[in-house]
Amino acid sequence: MVQHSNPSLATNLCGITLRNPVVLAAGTCGYVDEMADVLDLSRIGAIVTKSITAEKRDGNRPARILDAPAGMLNAIGLANKGLEAFLRDEVPRAAASPAVIIGSVAGNSIADYVRIASAFDASPHLRAIELNVSCPNTADGLIFGDDPASLRSLLAEVRPAVTRSTLIVKLGPNASSIVKLAAAAVEGGADALTLINTFTALAIDVHTRRPRLSNGTAGYSGPGIHPIAVRMVHDVYRNVASEAGVPLIGLGGVMRWEDAAEFILAGATAVGMGTALFVDPRLPLKVVHGLERWVDKQGCRNISELTGCVMM
Ligand SMILES: Cc1cc2nc3c(=O)[nH]c(=O)nc-3n(C[C@H](O)[C@H](O)[C@H](O)COP(=O)(O)O)c2cc1C
Repeated sequence: MVQHSNPSLATNLCGITLRNPVVLAAGTCGYVDEMADVLDLSRIGAIVTKSITAEKRDGNRPARILDAPAGMLNAIGLANKGLEAFLRDEVPRAAASPAVIIGSVAGNSIADYVRIASAFDASPHLRAIELNVSCPNTADGLIFGDDPASLRSLLAEVRPAVTRSTLIVKLGPNASSIVKLAAAAVEGGADALTLINTFTALAIDVHTRRPRLSNGTAGYSGPGIHPIAVRMVHDVYRNVASEAGVPLIGLGGVMRWEDAAEFILAGATAVGMGTALFVDPRLPLKVVHGLERWVDKQGCRNISELTGCVMM
């Protein structure tokens, strides 16, 4: 396979070199390389696995996905095969992946997070670990991502357990202040932050008068959340991340290269894509091409020169 990489998009994420800043988001692209049939993985930067829990989870009952205005609702509920089967069946394939693989961790106790993060840290094939503390679709998905004190207690245990890999904390938009959460994550030793997870939402069937998804509430993602996600990345960059030297992965509603470029200007180092993959799994390639042209037209040698460069 001919590898396509343009040095103007080479991205340094805490010492990990990504071919370009485009990252496939957790839960939207399978475990490791399932997208390879439809997307040339040698042309994207990184893939985040679906979130892995200590034990197997079936997730919520159907219906758990729904079209929504300018996006989609999901209440998958972290369906996954559990840590042991993931390490046995999926992680070995990461060795051959042309894209960097980032392992996503979810749990309902500090002990769970520590156990999974330690196991990921021991695998040479997972270059970074993303702690999902922001899932709105399970009863306990937000216990650590809702307030800074809980997040600090989680990181006090997880940070020392991760000695080799880059530790990324993924925050959501549902807490009262994402800036305070980001500050807590950085104080707790996060190497990078991913912003943002889905917005808690509700769709109602007006005939049955019941929620349209079995879980009741769901997570809203896609283009409708993009401007809010850009504002949050900008706030966190200006108030926390820039001074701390902590890179951000901007995520939320990226469909076109311009959306990705907005995240970069707001302060992101890399850019995630999730819902876009359900619309057309080849959209990340269009984003990569668009970013290449943009960096060139802006007169820059590398996209990192544009991080945080919005003029307000
Ligand atoms: C079907 C679906 C499943 C998801 N599963 C996960 C998951 O397992 N872990 C996680 O951290 N985020 C998960 N997310 C959230 C996405 O990674 C991303 O944060 C969110 O969808 C916003 O980005 P987007 O607008 O580009 O989709 C999921 C999103 C969708 C749509």
